[in-house]
Amino acid sequence: MRFKFHLLILISFVAVIFLSTCTSEVATPNICFQEDVLPLFVSNCTQSGCHNATDKVAELDLGNYTGIMKSIKANHPFQSESFTTINSGSMPPSRKFTKYEKDIIKHWIKAGAPNSSNCNSCDTTYTYSNRIQPMMNKWCVGCHATGNAGGGYDLSTYDNIVLSIANNKLNGSIQHQPGYSEMPKNGGKLSDCDLAAMSKWLNAGHPKN
Ligand code: HEC
Repeated sequence: MRFKFHLLILISFVAVIFLSTCTSEVATPNICFQEDVLPLFVSNCTQSGCHNATDKVAELDLGNYTGIMKSIKANHPFQSESFTTINSGSMPPSRKFTKYEKDIIKHWIKAGAPNSSNCNSCDTTYTYSNRIQPMMNKWCVGCHATGNAGGGYDLSTYDNIVLSIANNKLNGSIQHQPGYSEMPKNGGKLSDCDLAAMSKWLNAGHPKN
């Protein structure tokens, strides 16, 4: 009787641990290629001398869907070269991806690696801290941080982002206006939702909220 009781406790314990490992993966069925997956590749892999259209290291341009798909086998993350190198930590050389970031790529591949875009509902009530800085972190900071500031712009903090607003640089570059370097470099254009969020924040006088 006592033994059975202990066994029951043990089984419950194992079940709880098993379930918690499952649920620690990202629980988002709506991963969007353009808004969630592409920025991970663009801001971590397409730097000068890496996997962009000009340098094409290892024959890979990871700045767009077609290029990324050369290293992906839809539905099979562990047969997808990009995922396995990121997962093992051997790429990118600059930093290790977090588990959350790896899960985004893994789940997107498992879901068939679709070329999905503009799929997130666009929330128009937001603040600098929950929308604008995260957008910079996701898309831009890989090339625009202290000690590694593309064009001299560090986009990792509010005060430094404000410096990039001068001369319409920030807006001109993300809207791909003539006379500005198109940003995110090597990565196409931000989603309509991201562009709208940025315009709204700039028009409101870029509040630090
Ligand atoms: C893959 C690296 C990379 C990414 C990602 C990237 N940038 Fe850049 N950025 C650069 C480099 C390098 C320059 C210097 C100019 C050039 O080479 O085009 C630059 C220049 C700029 C400039 C100055 C533009 C001008 O016309 O003078 C701004 C503003 C800028 N980036 C903003 C951004 C923003 C905002 C993002 C994210 C949405 C971003 N960048 C993403 C590499 C990058």
